[in-house]
Amino acid sequence: MDRIRLRGGRPLKGVIPIGGAKNAALPLMAASLLTDGPLVLTNAPALDDTRTMAKLLEQHGLAVAHDQEARTMTLGGTATNLVAPYDLVRKMRASVLVLGPLLARYGEAKVSLPGGCAIGTRPVDLHLKGLEQMGAKIELDSGYMTARAPEGLRGAKVYFTQVSVGATENLLMAATLADGITELVNAAREPEIDDLAHCLIAMGAKIEGIGTDRLRIEGVKSLHGATHAIVPDRIEAGSFACAAGITGGEVLLQGARLEHLGTVARVLREAGVEVDEAPEGVLVKRLSGLRGVDVMTEPFPGFATDMQAQFMALMAVAEGASMITETIFENRFMHVPEMNRMGARINVHGSSAIVRGVSRLSGAPVMATDLRASVSLILAGLAAGGETIVNRVYHLDRGYERLEAKLAAVGADIERLPG
Ligand code: EPZ
Repeated sequence: MDRIRLRGGRPLKGVIPIGGAKNAALPLMAASLLTDGPLVLTNAPALDDTRTMAKLLEQHGLAVAHDQEARTMTLGGTATNLVAPYDLVRKMRASVLVLGPLLARYGEAKVSLPGGCAIGTRPVDLHLKGLEQMGAKIELDSGYMTARAPEGLRGAKVYFTQVSVGATENLLMAATLADGITELVNAAREPEIDDLAHCLIAMGAKIEGIGTDRLRIEGVKSLHGATHAIVPDRIEAGSFACAAGITGGEVLLQGARLEHLGTVARVLREAGVEVDEAPEGVLVKRLSGLRGVDVMTEPFPGFATDMQAQFMALMAVAEGASMITETIFENRFMHVPEMNRMGARINVHGSSAIVRGVSRLSGAPVMATDLRASVSLILAGLAAGGETIVNRVYHLDRGYERLEAKLAAVGADIERLPG
């Protein structure tokens, strides 16, 4: 297993290119199941998770070509297999996003229950309840969900009892081919959902209310191919903004969009990190000391749960204390014991962590446990004296492309040690 070795203490300076968003690319790839026509996705990131999604779509019978030089992915074809197998779904929970499209287009789907993951149990009850309201018959048996809608799906008014990104995406895609009008109430509003909706409209879907928590979809008979540019990754951008902040550097996040950082930008400013719109993206610098700031994770436009671990690394070396409350997932503090091994002073009480800033962290061998925890340990290593070795970086490779190369290009002393 690969490891990453880094030595901290250098302020990062320069330009970091921000890639297409992982959490937009995955639902967009699943949307290719809604039509035979070729779906061309530009600004497509090359990640372990997109490679897993490509494998899943190929075993359904689609052709997926990813020209990594051109950063363009072309997907198309007719599904010949309607089963999403356990060995792929267990590797990536977002596989469940094929359920809505397969059901809407082919009237049937058999998808392995995704099971939980390191950060939580992550049920899919909201996905299933919504699809049943649209007329699907769903049975759970031997770890699989078998869904059928022989007469097709029908429009329905679906009220989400909890904001769910995946459930919103699954039902949005299913509704595009349902008979009649579907309303999704209390829908998630993440930029990746807006991006999916814009792509579906380019494919011929009729969707209103984009950017709000109430989506209205009028079903159509069929969708056609389209070309769509994937939105830049706001979590990658936020992660590198924290890297600039924690090292006291100045970095241009090329291609990033300030409005997609939401509350993260406001909180970074409160902590003493300057975050400003620039012609080519977002400019981040830190000239003064870091201050402790309290945050609570919330659905967009609130503070993103996918930025919680990264922000905690920043707070670990801030002046004063910070209370960080995780309201979305039940077990997303696994980076805490690893940061404390580097000299951080963090105490977890239920869903809140109290971080008491220290003047300096010390490098140490640490263990990555999940995607965002991995990058938070690299951020801590960038600020630490001495050498840090991050083990199990396969977690990192799921969602960050060439992370160590991007950081080395702006002055970090970092390298990958092949496992
Ligand atoms: C998406 O996961 C993202 N993944 C996650 O990013 C992100 O953390 C999450 O949204 C929240 O923003 C992708 O987009 C591929 P949810 P998703 O459904 O859709 C509960 C990363 O690091 N829930 O919004 O699975 C659930 O347990 C990953 O890139 C139900 O109870 O998240 C959680 O507590 C990690 N029943 C909360 O809702 C359901 O049917 C939010 O989950 C569905 C969800």
